[in-house]
Amino acid sequence: MRAKIIATGHYVPERILTNSDLENMVDTSDEWIRERSGIRERRIADEKEAASDLACEAAKNAFKKTDIKAKDIELVIVATITGDMPFPATACHLQHKLGLKKAAAFDINAACSGFLYGLSVADGFIRSGTYKRILLVGAELISRITDWEDRTTCVLFGDGAGAVILESTEEDRGIISTHLRSDGSMWELLHLPGGGSRYPTSKETIKKKMHYLKMKGNETFKVAVRTLESLVRETLEENKLKVSQLSLLIPHQANLRIIQATAKRLGIPMDRVFMNIDRYGNTSAASIPIALDEAVREGRIRDEDYILLEAFGGGLTWASALIKKKKKKMTNDQISITK
Ligand code: COA
Repeated sequence: MRAKIIATGHYVPERILTNSDLENMVDTSDEWIRERSGIRERRIADEKEAASDLACEAAKNAFKKTDIKAKDIELVIVATITGDMPFPATACHLQHKLGLKKAAAFDINAACSGFLYGLSVADGFIRSGTYKRILLVGAELISRITDWEDRTTCVLFGDGAGAVILESTEEDRGIISTHLRSDGSMWELLHLPGGGSRYPTSKETIKKKMHYLKMKGNETFKVAVRTLESLVRETLEENKLKVSQLSLLIPHQANLRIIQATAKRLGIPMDRVFMNIDRYGNTSAASIPIALDEAVREGRIRDEDYILLEAFGGGLTWASALIKKKKKKMTNDQISITK
C-alpha cells in the first residue's frame, strides 16, 4: 500500500509586485533580478489574508477536481514557516475553515522543503494503514517576514499556496519513494532569529530587525546545487532508474540559476524541467505544489510518467520524491478500440 495524489489545486493572491515596482523601493534593477534569479514578478497577499486563507482556497481548488468530500479527509497537514500564528497550527485553522470534521491536524516546519517532508509523512501514514485520505497543503506569506529594505532578500520571495489530496492505493503507482535530509550545522545560512524561545519578541529584537528572514544567498546557492544533485542521483539509484527515464523534474522554485545548474549537472534537458519562478518567485513550501498543479493543468504529466520533485531550504533541509502517474482507466469505448 502507498499514497497516490488524486487531486491538485493552487491559489495565489491577486496583487502582483513587479521588478520595476521593486526598483522604486530598494536599490535594484529589473535586469539584476532577472539575470540573477529569473524572477519577473511575485504575488503579495492582501493584509487581511493569512496562511490558512491561502491554504483554504488552494484546497478548495483541489476538492473541485475529485469526488472526495471534505468530510472524508482524516488528516490535514500544512507545511509552512509563516503560519497564521505561532500556535495553534495553521492546519487547525484550515480544518475548521473546510469543516474537516474527523481530521487530525498539524503543521510541518521544514522551510522550502516542507511540502516534500509533508508528502513523506502523509505517505507514511497511508502506508501504515493509519489513514486513507489526507489533505496536504504548502502555504506561505513570505512577504510578512521580509525586510523590504533589504535588497538581497526582498526581491526573491512571494506568497501563495498549493494543495494535494492523497488517497491509499494498492497499485504500483503514486508516491514511489521519498527522501529527506537535513544539516542543522548550517542553520545560519537561512533563518529568522526573533520571536522564538531563543530571542522572544521585545523592543530590542524588533529594533535589530530580528523578526525578518536572513539569508546568505551566495553560500546557500552553492550548497543547494551540490546537495540537490546528489539527492536526485540517490533517488534514481535507489529506484534503479536512469535520468533519461524521468519525464519531468519539478524543482523547488528558488532561483533559475540553481534549477539550471542542477539540471545541467544531472544531464536533464531544460524542456523536461518545470518552471514558473518568473511569475511567483520563491514561495517556499508552496512552490512545489503550485508548480505541480500548473504542470497537471498544462498537460505536462502523462500516463505512466516518472516525475521527480526536489526541494532545498532553511534548516538546512532538502528532500526529493519520485512519483509515477496512475494509468487512466479506459472507458468501454476505448477498450474496444484498443482490442
Ligand atoms: N539588486 C542589485 N544588486 C544586488 C541585489 C539586488 N537586489 N542583491 C544583492 N546585490 C549585489 C550585492 O550587494 C553584491 O554587490 P557587491 O559585489 O558590490 O558586494 C552583488 O549584487 C552580488 O551579490 P551576490 O550575493 O554574490 O549575488 P549572487 O550572484 O549570489 O545572487 C542571489 C544573489 C541571492 C540571487 C543568489 O545567491 C541566490 O539566489 N542564492 C540562493 C538563494 C536561495 O535559493 N535561497 C532559498 C533556498 S530555499
